[in-house]
Amino acid sequence: MKILVTGGTGYIGSHVAVELINQGHTIEIVDNLSNSQIEVLDKIEQITSTRPVFHEVDLLDQLALDHIFDNTSFDLVIHFAGLKAVAESIEQPLRYYDNNVTSTINLLESMQSHSVKNIIFSSSATVYGDQGVDQCVETMPTGIKLTNPYGKTKYMIEEILKDLAISNPEFSIISLRYFNPIGNHTSGLLGENPNGIPNNLMPYIMKVATGELPELNIFGNDYDTEDGTCLRDYIHVVDLAKGHLAAIDGLKPGFTAYNLGTGRPTSVLEMVHAFEKVSGKPLPHKFAPRRPGDLPKLYANPKKAEQELKWHANLTIEDAIKDTLTFISNK
Ligand SMILES: NC(=O)c1ccc[n+]([C@@H]2O[C@H](COP(=O)([O-])OP(=O)(O)OC[C@H]3O[C@@H](n4cnc5c(N)ncnc54)[C@H](O)[C@@H]3O)[C@@H](O)[C@H]2O)c1
Repeated sequence: MKILVTGGTGYIGSHVAVELINQGHTIEIVDNLSNSQIEVLDKIEQITSTRPVFHEVDLLDQLALDHIFDNTSFDLVIHFAGLKAVAESIEQPLRYYDNNVTSTINLLESMQSHSVKNIIFSSSATVYGDQGVDQCVETMPTGIKLTNPYGKTKYMIEEILKDLAISNPEFSIISLRYFNPIGNHTSGLLGENPNGIPNNLMPYIMKVATGELPELNIFGNDYDTEDGTCLRDYIHVVDLAKGHLAAIDGLKPGFTAYNLGTGRPTSVLEMVHAFEKVSGKPLPHKFAPRRPGDLPKLYANPKKAEQELKWHANLTIEDAIKDTLTFISNK
């Protein structure tokens, strides 16, 4: 297949790019490099011996986007491009709505006018919101008590995709609701490297492990969980990437959502102890007050993807930690 990957130099997009090339697909990447580096293309080439065609284009630029579709006839778009920092989205809501929602509308306009009818979208477990339920299943409603603009953009985009599928039955749309991606390609060449203080646990742990940050703050140790810290569903990014290949085979007319998670919850403290065990070094950490908006427990029911896409996560958090340590040592 000829596939356009938006956000393909980013953390998840670059891992999916590698899997797609390895499966024999031809890909082109569009990214404005607002949260990634051009050198990622070198790494993709190093791993796959193939350098994807790259367009440094902002999806907000409809003309430039149309130009990409004018020149290549794509079978499918996989849409990763977007801003993803929850705290930043609360400070800059208009930027998030514009960058995530407007750019997706632009992308869909270009697809529609060029008769490209297949899209896989990077959604998030955050669309389920706060329903007082720990394990999320696709039959649950979405958009319930969403607490931040980032999550609302994912919910809004899913609603737009549903309406598009209703208006044009030729569209085949899959929304993949990621849980908590961690780890990186086993080569250690690709990975997540955010600037500043990260929002997510694993990038935070990495910065403590490399000495860039003095210690890990664990937000809340008085939740109603076994060790008092929050439970999440951490999925190795390579497993997540393989979920996209399974989704390609599962494309069918209409809108369909799938959870991509392991179904196994892990607490923050368990992750810290696992990191210490695999690295053989203590990880300085302290308990801090709860963060507003954090849910105590959130993990996937992954059965729908298992049954319909014949996909399930194979790798463990220890695999992810090992690969993270390789990535850190390559930096
Ligand atoms: N990483 C996670 O924990 C997680 C969880 C759930 C969902 N997601 C979603 O998955 C997708 C990929 O996430 P990621 O972790 O790889 O993030 P990332 O920031 O590493 O990658 C996103 C890429 O999109 C690009 N981009 C952003 N806005 C753009 C625009 N207007 N035009 C062109 N390029 C643009 C960035 O430069 C970046 O390379 C995002 O949509 C994110 O919301 C991520």
